[in-house]
Amino acid sequence: MTIAIVGLGYVGLPLALQFARSGVRVLGIDVDAKKVASLNAGRSYIRHIPATEIKKLVRAGKFAATTDFARLKKVAATLICVPTPLKKNRAPDLSFVLNTGKSIAPHLQRGQLVVLESTTYPGTTENELRAVLERGSKLKAGKDFHLAFSPEREDPGNPKNIAQIPKVIGGYTPACLAAAQQVYARAIRTLVPVANCRTAEAAKLLENVFRSVNIALVNELKGVYTAMDIDVWDVIAAARTKPFGFMPFYPGPGLGGHCIPIDPFYLAWKAKQVGQETRFVELAGEINRAMPSKVIRRLTQAMAAQKKILRRARVLVLGLAYKANVDDDRESPSYVLMDLLKARGAKVFYFDPHVPVIKPTREHPHWAGTKSVKWNRKTISSFDAVLISTAHDAVNYLQLAEWSPLIVDTRNVMSQFTSAPGKIWPA
Ligand SMILES: NC(=O)c1ccc[n+]([C@@H]2O[C@H](COP(=O)([O-])OP(=O)(O)OC[C@H]3O[C@@H](n4cnc5c(N)ncnc54)[C@H](O)[C@@H]3O)[C@@H](O)[C@H]2O)c1
Repeated sequence: MTIAIVGLGYVGLPLALQFARSGVRVLGIDVDAKKVASLNAGRSYIRHIPATEIKKLVRAGKFAATTDFARLKKVAATLICVPTPLKKNRAPDLSFVLNTGKSIAPHLQRGQLVVLESTTYPGTTENELRAVLERGSKLKAGKDFHLAFSPEREDPGNPKNIAQIPKVIGGYTPACLAAAQQVYARAIRTLVPVANCRTAEAAKLLENVFRSVNIALVNELKGVYTAMDIDVWDVIAAARTKPFGFMPFYPGPGLGGHCIPIDPFYLAWKAKQVGQETRFVELAGEINRAMPSKVIRRLTQAMAAQKKILRRARVLVLGLAYKANVDDDRESPSYVLMDLLKARGAKVFYFDPHVPVIKPTREHPHWAGTKSVKWNRKTISSFDAVLISTAHDAVNYLQLAEWSPLIVDTRNVMSQFTSAPGKIWPA
């Protein structure tokens, strides 16, 4: 069997490798010719995906990449893993999915399967995507070709093999579902068939709204408990000993990544179309977006206690990626913190062992080209304050505690050290 995976990013590449590893021949397709060239040369552009494995699978003829959609004619199935961002007004931007559909359609053959994996609102697969595929191919979904939705549950940096993560699948028809199950069964251990594409799309959104709402809850409780002189991290550690009905979530400087800050608004947008409100989604978004400003207020307070002000101060933001131990900086709250600090007149620097230099981003293009500072006593001790935004394991926090005069910690990594009073501030 040969399958194609369109979109070789954080989701598509690991999925492609999992299929290839399971003995399925995989053709990876991406519009980015540089990524295609890297993969064919056996190189990786994602830190937690080893080049050795790509090289091995390319050499074994199990995996190849291309920019040429015409090669789709020969595959049994095409899985779509392209971005689903938001527009400026927080409305869904389906342009990547629809453009991909338009590129696939002219090459679509009878009997083939197309699966959308990108996170999106319920109805996208059977309405918008089906329409572009049918229009461009003159074939009918459910009759001439199979169509399905299967959300990705990739957790970057999580060592658990994706083969072991159960995969939800919804088909446009029962035959579409059966065709999709047959393909995924080659690479994934547990499949979770659901009633239709809409249900599968909705399940993914429930998972991500659940995270956004619960993170907002602990972010709010952090403020409440701090005002009562109670450590929210101690509270969560105690609560999580309950063996049922509780699941721990942790506060932070705001939300980041391609999923949690974005996906809930796909649901909110679609809910409006059907005359429904999503108050939890809106409130969680509001609370989570307010976090960076609260963190800066805490930093100002900590600096004032050392008779320092933010204006002209040298401030180091520690951790640029949106979560620990990955190099993914999309939607990272660190950028919001850096913008707020700069707006208040601070001289802003960052350190991240996984992001040596900032690549151009859509939301924060003005930071492109900025380099991570060096990790040594002279440099680190030269900052008036260090603001821990992301707690990578590769950082030596003991050295930080020794070298820095003031540390504001949004991740509770410094609680393991005792230091001079007023030097380490939880935030
Ligand atoms: N990153 C995650 O942890 C994660 C987890 C679960 C779900 N998702 C969802 O998976 C989808 C993909 O996310 P990602 O993180 O892999 O994105 P990504 O930006 O890392 O990768 C997307 C890839 O698609 C390519 N691409 C864009 N337009 C294309 C087109 N028209 N044809 C072919 N290739 C095209 C890009 O060049 C890029 O390589 C999104 O819907 C996202 O919400 C992501």
